[in-house]
Amino acid sequence: METITIGLLGLGTVGQGVVTLLQKQAAKISRTQNFRFKLKRVAVRNLAHHQTAELPVGTILTDKITDVTDDPEIQIVVEAMGGVDVAKVAICQAILNKKSIISANKDLLATAGEEILQLAKTVGVDFFYEASVAGGIPILRVLSSSLETDQITQITGIINGTANYVLTAMEREQQAYVTALKNAQKLGYAELNPTNDVQGIDATYKLIILSRFAFGQSLALTDIPHQGITTISPAQLASANRLGLKIKLLAVAKEVNQQLFSFVGPAAIPATEPLAHVNGVQNAIAIQSNALGETTYTGPGAGAHPTANSILSDLLVTGNNIVKGICGHEFNRYRKPSAAQSLTTVPQQYLITIEDTKIEPSVLANLCQFTWQQQVTGEHYWSGLTPVISATTLTTLLDSLKHQGQQPHYVPLSNSWQMAS
Ligand code: HSE
Repeated sequence: METITIGLLGLGTVGQGVVTLLQKQAAKISRTQNFRFKLKRVAVRNLAHHQTAELPVGTILTDKITDVTDDPEIQIVVEAMGGVDVAKVAICQAILNKKSIISANKDLLATAGEEILQLAKTVGVDFFYEASVAGGIPILRVLSSSLETDQITQITGIINGTANYVLTAMEREQQAYVTALKNAQKLGYAELNPTNDVQGIDATYKLIILSRFAFGQSLALTDIPHQGITTISPAQLASANRLGLKIKLLAVAKEVNQQLFSFVGPAAIPATEPLAHVNGVQNAIAIQSNALGETTYTGPGAGAHPTANSILSDLLVTGNNIVKGICGHEFNRYRKPSAAQSLTTVPQQYLITIEDTKIEPSVLANLCQFTWQQQVTGEHYWSGLTPVISATTLTTLLDSLKHQGQQPHYVPLSNSWQMAS
């Protein structure tokens, strides 16, 4: 039986998950494949932090990345270190040394992916990154195989486990935002610096990768309007609940007339929709496509073992390609340029919440050029659902409320977007 030699960069939550799962599943892998994996070297930033790491007998721990990227025996490098600059240099070096790459690094793939993937193609090595989007959900492979023959029209995802965990804990357990975020960090869901998780940047990176597979379009971070969950208040979550809605951090890309509209941010979802029931670290991606209609894929979006399983599934594909001598095919071959548009500028409905308000209903009614679809008043808040209004009408209303000394918060109602056809 052939042995395929692996090198690992990074031994954080994901790296440790890979080490554990490789050992745990070794017997099954050698039963189902005609090769086995050997983890030869693991590179870490600080050796002292990993003295007690449980590595397979014979695996060498090093603090030199080049010990992995330049080792002629290593055939596949698993990059689980995160970050952009150092990871990019390491991956390019490994590719130039003819090693296939498996990576979970969405930041790198979203910002410099095209360039590195092109290098891998030119050199003729594999580059897979299933773990970079939605942790354990095998969504990229589904998009690049089962859905390749379908025409996708919309992707709506809950694709940041940390943000979903925080919003769920705030809503269900009345936890403060800070407490919920600390718990997500303790459980290993959040990034080392959770800014990207809570500000919607991590979800935006994942949407960039998803859009390449689903729509053939490579968006930049600046093409996608993105907001986080840092200002979502318990009153917004409570009032949404009373109106039969759930607030989630959504990532949306929708193709209409050769234009790709996108948005990442908190949005209200009717409780009757499957995405409204995706809680905690769970992720979900709802795909609308012409042949299949709507399909929804759910599963754990972060965590050591779910993410490591996605990496192991990539390892199996590459292992087979190495055995057959057919490495170098792109994970995603779809390219179809379309104009990037913002979903925030199209007419839609909004859930507006005003906290600690004493504003009279008649004054509020006078500020609006429309009739509220639904309204609810709580002990410390007032909330209303607008009909479909333009972005200009929304801005005028928010300005008028602020002029009255109020502090309005708003989230859009998902799927209320009205595009000109
Ligand atoms: N920090 C990410 C999340 C990890 O919370 O979803 C998985 O990409």
